[in-house]
Amino acid sequence: MILRTLLLKLSTYQRIGEVMDRLPAARRLVRRFVAGRSAEDALGVIARLRAAGLEVAVTYLGENVTTAGAAARAADTYVALLDEIERRRLGAVPSLKLTHLGLDLDRALCVRELTRVVERGARAGTLVWIDMEASAYTDRTLDLYAELRPRHPNLACVVQAYLRRTPRDVERLIDLGATVRLCKGAYQEPPSLAYPDKRDVDRSFGALVDRLLAPDARARRVYPGFATHDESLIRHARRRAREWAVPPDRFEIQMLHGIREDLHRTLRADGLTVRVLVPFGEDWYGYFMRRLAERPANLAFFLRQLVRPR
Ligand code: FDA
Repeated sequence: MILRTLLLKLSTYQRIGEVMDRLPAARRLVRRFVAGRSAEDALGVIARLRAAGLEVAVTYLGENVTTAGAAARAADTYVALLDEIERRRLGAVPSLKLTHLGLDLDRALCVRELTRVVERGARAGTLVWIDMEASAYTDRTLDLYAELRPRHPNLACVVQAYLRRTPRDVERLIDLGATVRLCKGAYQEPPSLAYPDKRDVDRSFGALVDRLLAPDARARRVYPGFATHDESLIRHARRRAREWAVPPDRFEIQMLHGIREDLHRTLRADGLTVRVLVPFGEDWYGYFMRRLAERPANLAFFLRQLVRPR
């Protein structure tokens, strides 16, 4: 717990990333979770995953931009990526952060940049997933989603099971008939807002799975993506889907690139839809540190690589 808190705190110090970038051992471990620096690196990984029968989401890494130019560049990158995804018939969907598109600067600017990406996604016939960031952004993200979704049915959003407020947010999303990813949550949050105990987070995740698969949610065309590598929660979702006769094309399991790849094949063989999120870009540091914080064994592996004689 202390280690997780420390790593999440360090994840906000970009300078550490600049130092790590100069260490070959660090670069090797980063490559386990991040497809590479360029869109071409990501497109190569996406093609491999698609050939294996997997669905894919793709993230151009970056968050909290401080200039309108940076927000426009992020949106341009997503639009160019969608051009290539369509040209190569890869059918991957962008998964982006609103602070990468300028939410910290100006909401209207962020909406303009998002709209460019969503309209390009609609022409390519793909969803565009809005990631959920730290709790300071929850209201703004969900409000913006609720405002844009009626005009852009290809927009999807995310909720985090660790937040105490999420059952209320899920009811609102069910009313909207949303396409929604449920994840545990990856940021450092105070206990007043988020469950500090992993058992409570897992319990909350299970209850939210039930809510999102419930017959009334299905009647409203809610489409949930359960984003977890936690086998017992995946089993729980599958059991509920069976009990409530939810067809396999009415929900999906989502995972991050480089984590529990052994599960992809077994879930696919059982007829489930599995979507893998592939991140790429120069700005890998915050994303990478959140993955280290999730699993201390990754940190031990990283440190061993650093001291290993070569
Ligand atoms: P948990 O952390 O309990 O791990 C369960 C098991 O999975 C572990 O025992 C281990 O085997 C494996 N595992 C998990 N993390 C690992 C790692 N880093 N390295 C190696 N093995 C690991 N969060 C957020 O706040 N906003 C968002 O928008 C998203 N989006 C998102 C999309 C997708 C597709 C996924 C899969 C996840 C997210 N997340 C996210 C991250 C999410 O909130 C959460 O931090 C991670 O998924 C880890 O939690 P698990 O559910 O995997 O469970």
